[in-house]
Amino acid sequence: MRAAVIALLGASLVLGLGVVRGAPEDDQRAFQDFYKQRFPDTPFEDFANGLYSIDKSRREEWEQMEEFPPYEFDIDAGEELFHEPFANGKSYADCFPDYESGVRQNYPHWDPERGEVVTMEWAINLCRERHGEKPLKYYRGPLAQISAYLAYLSRGHVIDVKVPDDDSGALAAYEEGKKHYYARRGQLNFACASCHVDAVGRLLRAELIGPAVGQVSHFPVFRKTWREITTLHRSYAACSRQLRAASFGPQSREYRNLEYFHSYMSNGIPLNGPGSRH
Ligand code: HEC
Repeated sequence: MRAAVIALLGASLVLGLGVVRGAPEDDQRAFQDFYKQRFPDTPFEDFANGLYSIDKSRREEWEQMEEFPPYEFDIDAGEELFHEPFANGKSYADCFPDYESGVRQNYPHWDPERGEVVTMEWAINLCRERHGEKPLKYYRGPLAQISAYLAYLSRGHVIDVKVPDDDSGALAAYEEGKKHYYARRGQLNFACASCHVDAVGRLLRAELIGPAVGQVSHFPVFRKTWREITTLHRSYAACSRQLRAASFGPQSREYRNLEYFHSYMSNGIPLNGPGSRH
């Protein structure tokens, strides 16, 4: 890993970090334009397919995998869990009354009363808390399955995260997420953007580095190498660990704000979760 990253570092020093600067709308335009220009043959909506939007042979292998989607069991398990009543007789449907027509597209959002970014996974646990149940673990298992079921019901809705410009808390959360994305960290001194922007489309060992735009659309994801359905923050932590940088806890404020920035950069991309990955 180290040698492979150092080889990439050369490339990113030449290119420099494509840091976007300005109001959220300007950031978003610059960020999306970068990928549109870098991959002119990829229709914008197709970035929903992550690295498979930029590589034909990997896409073919993935399309084969999607013929018998490895996450199908998780959607079914998630559906059952979702409808299981809590001890007080209520269920998740009481917290998400519109679940059948899709609720995933409403997350992450800025909650002015809490003064926090609320993500889909956190909202699931907030629902449990409200009804006197213990929170579920965030990376995998029942919570990832419920999230997969809700993602499935939301397929086709378009990502449309709002950063209200009259709310300084929302702007601060966005800025914090953006800072995280561009901050170099860890022993290898790499930022998220060093790979997913500057080195996008390059190989890191045998892995092709995918574009950041659209990356959030297909979560939770069944990773063949991890053999289970997993949430977005597990991917954040895995990428941080690769850099020998400290990772933040799942659903920490740091990662919720990162997800807020990351999702806002993907506005306009259709949701297509859950997804499968090699
Ligand atoms: C050393 C290069 C490198 C750095 C730095 C890096 N990543 Fe990654 N990341 C990868 C590779 C390689 C993959 C797997 C291929 C892909 O999907 O892009 C990946 C995958 C991901 C995925 C899953 C994509 C999917 O479709 O399943 C997410 C999300 C992600 N990275 C976010 C981040 C974030 C956020 C950061 C900063 C904390 C970061 N990455 C830093 C190389 C990197």
